[in-house]
Amino acid sequence: MIGMGTVCQSICLAALEYGLGTCIADQGIWYDQVWRKYADIPENKVLVEGISIGYPDENFPANKLISMREPVDAITIWLGFD
Ligand SMILES: Cc1cc2nc3c(=O)[nH]c(=O)nc-3n(C[C@H](O)[C@H](O)[C@H](O)COP(=O)(O)O)c2cc1C
Repeated sequence: MIGMGTVCQSICLAALEYGLGTCIADQGIWYDQVWRKYADIPENKVLVEGISIGYPDENFPANKLISMREPVDAITIWLGFD
């Protein structure tokens, strides 16, 4: 799953290079039968994550929200960088 997270991040960063916005959401795959039907995904493939990709509407109020971030030092132990 960590590997999938890395793939998701890489897709999001690549999309950004093309001026596209993204939103990672595993809620999307709760409705996997919908995705299977419209994206023609066979039952032997497991859906692990969804990423919406599109051109962001910068004027949409929700897109003006700047969310809080946990400081990096609060979730990281740095060794050998003294
Ligand atoms: C692995 C992953 C799964 C996520 N799944 C959902 C989800 O199912 N529903 C949701 O509302 N946000 C989900 N998020 C959060 C959104 O992608 C996004 O990070 C959130 O809207 C906060 O936006 P921000 O980047 O401005 O903080 C997920 C994020 C990650 C990294």
